[in-house]
Amino acid sequence: MSKLTVAVIFGSRSTEHDISIVTAIASVIKPLELSGKYNVVPVYIDKKGKWYCDPSLSDIALYSSGNIEAFLAKLKPLAIRMDGKLELVLKRKKVITVDVAFPATHGTHGEDGELMGLLEMAGVPYVGCPMPAAAIAMDKALAKTLAASEGVLTSKFEWFYGRDFEADRKAILTRLAGLTYPLFVKPVHLGSSIAISRVENSQALVQAIEVAAHYDDKVLVEEAVNNLIEVTVPIIGNQEPRAALVEQPLLKDSNLFDFETKYMNGGKKGKGKENGAQGYSKLPADLPPKLYKQAETTALKVYSLLGCAGIARVDLLIDSRTSQVYFNEVNPLPGSLYAHNWRQAGVSNVQLVEELVDLALQRAQQRRQLSTAFSSNYLKQY
Ligand SMILES: Nc1ncnc2c1ncn2[C@@H]1O[C@H](COP(=O)(O)OP(=O)(O)O)[C@@H](O)[C@H]1O
Ligand SMILES: [Mg+2]
Repeated sequence: MSKLTVAVIFGSRSTEHDISIVTAIASVIKPLELSGKYNVVPVYIDKKGKWYCDPSLSDIALYSSGNIEAFLAKLKPLAIRMDGKLELVLKRKKVITVDVAFPATHGTHGEDGELMGLLEMAGVPYVGCPMPAAAIAMDKALAKTLAASEGVLTSKFEWFYGRDFEADRKAILTRLAGLTYPLFVKPVHLGSSIAISRVENSQALVQAIEVAAHYDDKVLVEEAVNNLIEVTVPIIGNQEPRAALVEQPLLKDSNLFDFETKYMNGGKKGKGKENGAQGYSKLPADLPPKLYKQAETTALKVYSLLGCAGIARVDLLIDSRTSQVYFNEVNPLPGSLYAHNWRQAGVSNVQLVEELVDLALQRAQQRRQLSTAFSSNYLKQY
């Protein structure tokens, strides 16, 4: 049997472009290649949104050396054909038919459902959250609203459009007066703590809203969880999801687990042991067994509620005094796939990506069984 062709798609027009490159190469492409089961094709979307495909794009040195732009200038961007399948049309009309797409994109134009929508239209099986789940997860207000409507505890919140704040500040501020300080103000779509503020009083609120509204058309304002223990739960699976270990990222003094801590300190040149957050976390989280279980159960419930499949990571905020577990957000495409956590939970990088490809195929199979057409006489009347 010939090998499955897996296209790993990464980069894209996102603030997390560079992080996506590392996720794709280190946590997806390498283990897929190591597995030996697949023909692995790197598909890189540059910062302007052009698509490229070339074996050299799997080499991290190309990006870290700063030579990527010169290299791309010599390549022809890719054309995509999607007549019932996904085909990558390369130079001299060479065509690669993709059996499974593996998005390794983070943030906007990739993790937020846009790419998944394209893959859905193409009819190609793809790894990870389906388009609607990804879109909901990437809107913090929508995700919280949905979770809360099904009885999942969230901190008390309000959301509004930036334009409505501009039009009538007073009305919005009156609504927000029902929330108890300290508050968190967030753009609903961005990640990596960009433009998020913690505000202690109403004087600081307006400026925080203006900052968030500068980055996003929707703003979320929510009550802070006190006596905070933050945990994150990587999850894998379709209908029967299972959790890896409940992990506890450790906070900085600023009380914000920010971009610097997440990505800069743990890199190769930093002090952390491995890439990313893992040098800065307790794994497994240091929680009493009942609370640990409750975190796991809440995360799994949210995963299923949002319609996640394949993989995602659910972040929770725990008030250690009251032992209340609050849902915070879902990351439909966790950086590095949270492979360090899966490894500790007994799943190797190779097993992880193999399972994800299998889950993508399973989901596509199940979708094919759903009826997508029925005949009607509707057109006959015209
Ligand atoms: N309601 C809250 N109470 C306490 N801390 C919070 C709250 N919301 C966010 N934080 C802190 O801010 C960080 C970033 O917020 P989050 O909503 O997770 O955004 P991001 O998408 O940037 O990860 C969280 O990891 C947590 O440390
Ligand atoms: Mg977060």
